[in-house]
Amino acid sequence: MTVEEGSASSPPGPAERAAAPLHLRPATAADIPSLVPLLLRLKRLNEEFDPLLRVRDDAPQQARAILESQIADPKALVLAAEGVGPDRDKLVGFVRAIVRERPFYTPEFEGVIVDIYLLPLYRRRGVGEYLLREVSSALKAKGAGVVTAEFPAQNEIASRFYAKRGFRPITLIHARSL
Ligand SMILES: CC(C)(COP(=O)(O)OP(=O)(O)OC[C@H]1O[C@@H](n2cnc3c(N)ncnc32)[C@H](O)[C@@H]1OP(=O)(O)O)[C@@H](O)C(=O)NCCC(=O)NCCS
Repeated sequence: MTVEEGSASSPPGPAERAAAPLHLRPATAADIPSLVPLLLRLKRLNEEFDPLLRVRDDAPQQARAILESQIADPKALVLAAEGVGPDRDKLVGFVRAIVRERPFYTPEFEGVIVDIYLLPLYRRRGVGEYLLREVSSALKAKGAGVVTAEFPAQNEIASRFYAKRGFRPITLIHARSL
C-alpha cells in the first residue's frame, strides 16, 4: 500500500500474536527526542493517503511543542512503548490521547485517541489491541465515558483496526480545498 507498509513483515501466526513484545509506560519529557520521529512517521504515512494532509515544513517543531505541553497536561495522555530484547530502551511506538468535554451529549467527557503508532515490525501481533486496551482504561480513569479515535478517512489500516475492535463512525469531517 505504501513504502512504509511494504517494509512490514507478513502477518504472524496465532502463537506470535499472543505476546506483547513491549513495555508501555507514560512518556516523560526525556522521551520527546525519540517520540518526535515516530509522530512524524505517522503524519507522513497519513500524507500518503490524502493530499489534503500534506505535512508542514515545521512539523518537527510543532510535534515537539505539542508533546511537551501534553506530557505535562493532566487532561492528555502520552504513552511510550519501549521494545524488549535487543530493542530494549528503544521507543517502538506511542499513543497520544486527550480528554475532551462534549457540551451537548452524554457521556459528558470523551477520550479521543489522536495518534496510535507502532513501527512496522511490531504490527499485526496484537500489540495495537494491547495499546488500545491500556489507553482506554487510562482515559476512563481520567473521567472519559466514551472512547473515540480520530484518523484520516483514507487510512485503511486505522479504519480496519478500529472497526475490528467495535468502533463505528459517529462524526464525519468532510473537506474540500479553497
Ligand atoms: C494501527 C496500529 C497501531 C495497529 O497495531 P497492530 O499491532 O498492527 O494491531 P493488531 O495486531 O492489534 O490488530 C491488527 C489489525 O489491525 C488492522 N491492520 C493492521 N495493519 C494493517 C494493514 N497493513 N492493512 C490493513 N489492516 C491492518 C487489521 O484489522 C488487523 O487485523 P488482521 O491482522 O486480522 O487483518 C498499527 O498497525 C500502526 O501503527 N499502523 C500505522 C499507523 C496508523 O495508521 N495509525 C492509526 C492512525 S492514527
